[in-house]
Amino acid sequence: MESQDKQVTGYLLFSLATAVIGSLQFGYNTGVINAPEMKLKSFFNVTWYKRYNEEIDPGVCTIVWSVAVSIFSVGGMVGSFSVGVIANRFGRRRSMILVNSLAVIGGLLMGFSTICSSYEMVIAGRLVIGLFCGLFTGLTPMYVGEVSPTPLRGAFGTLHQLGVVVGILIAQIFGLEALLGSDNLWPLLLALTVAPAVLQCILLPFCPESPRFLLINLKQEEEARNVLVRLRGSEDVSKDLQEMKEESAKMAKEKKVTIAELFRTAAYRQPLFIAVMLQLSQQLSGINAVFYYSTGIFSSAGVQKPIYATIGAGVVNTIFTIVSLFLVEKAGRRTLHLLGLGGMAVSALLMTVSLLLDKIPGMSYVAILAVMLFVAMFELGPGPIPWFIVAELFSQGPRPAAMALAGCCNWTANFLVGMSFPTLQGWLGPWVFLIFTGLLIVFFIFTFIKVPETKGKTFDEIARGFSSAAPPPSSSTEDPPATGLDNNSVTSSWVCT
Ligand code: GLC
Repeated sequence: MESQDKQVTGYLLFSLATAVIGSLQFGYNTGVINAPEMKLKSFFNVTWYKRYNEEIDPGVCTIVWSVAVSIFSVGGMVGSFSVGVIANRFGRRRSMILVNSLAVIGGLLMGFSTICSSYEMVIAGRLVIGLFCGLFTGLTPMYVGEVSPTPLRGAFGTLHQLGVVVGILIAQIFGLEALLGSDNLWPLLLALTVAPAVLQCILLPFCPESPRFLLINLKQEEEARNVLVRLRGSEDVSKDLQEMKEESAKMAKEKKVTIAELFRTAAYRQPLFIAVMLQLSQQLSGINAVFYYSTGIFSSAGVQKPIYATIGAGVVNTIFTIVSLFLVEKAGRRTLHLLGLGGMAVSALLMTVSLLLDKIPGMSYVAILAVMLFVAMFELGPGPIPWFIVAELFSQGPRPAAMALAGCCNWTANFLVGMSFPTLQGWLGPWVFLIFTGLLIVFFIFTFIKVPETKGKTFDEIARGFSSAAPPPSSSTEDPPATGLDNNSVTSSWVCT
């Protein structure tokens, strides 16, 4: 690892910050819908009354509300699944510019819903915004992974999650009644997503296209070199170029990788399995049960002002993402993920105890502590790592397809937790978090056995590790590339680092 690799230029930081506006948007739109729940429900009622001259049935109102909330994840599933095709067709940078038009459409639909007396516009807007966020949960990590120098890829990869958590926090704060969460201003709260979209469109033309996309996909070596020189602030970018060329040469031998081929090719199967399991570990940890329903959880634990405890959780969330950013290149992905999952399992147990013993004085503080600990542990590893590790586990060829599939699994699991948590809570009451404890233990064991350390390795080294760990060619549709590495040594050295 040469010191030159560590050079961080203002241009690189500017490009990363611009890309991360997409992550901020995802966080903002995840967090924004909770606070104005009552305002939206009353808008549905008023609109219904205007149309049909009668009050909306409470059951129908709940259905309209849940559709407005959850259709966001449906959009996310479709959006994340389409990311591979779009990113390869238009390039990373142009895709980001194009996709922002969805934020403008979605934001305007929601912003003008009251003027047009149409709750359908809120629902349509949430769907379009979901599509937009789904695309960005692939585009930002992909771009960030591709422009970052290898030794800092994890730290910069964490920036995506940092954008998400800051977005959630901004939404929680802006959603306060005294700010934009009021009767008249909530449409503006939902439409505010247009502003960062416009800002990103203004800034993106000043950012470079991903040099990996230029060289490997478009074969524009000179352009790729120029971009690298500006990003690294050094004329000597031969190491980066060499690495990309090797990857490109390898890719030339491979067929174009579609999602179906990801499953068929033995060398991709193992990283794919790991990528999907890591996404599931993020969502099935139960994090969004807290982010969507924390106010209710705090109230049932006897907390007096739950909204402030929720904002407190948002603050802890942000602080620990920053902690992870500084730790990830030292401690490694695998260790932090394990630590996070283990810590979350313990916190979920603590949460169960505090909910069970809510009659004991002072238990509400234990509940707050347990939730904060749960969130902090999440951000150490399970929050940021799954988002960027998929870009690391695959080389340029299969990367977009793999990110599409992994992202879609993430959104689907998010949708399932969001939809089922209230029902599960109804059935299980204070025991509900034990489900997550169980799942967290399963994911801990999986990570311990299966997940390799990717810290400090080039994309090619990581991919080669999997190729040599794959079964012999007879069970594969393709010959795994020759690596010169001993299978067992690669697998075991990963597991043990
Ligand atoms: C991750 C998850 C997202 C969650 C957020 C909380 O980005 O993907 O669903 O809301 O973390 O910080």
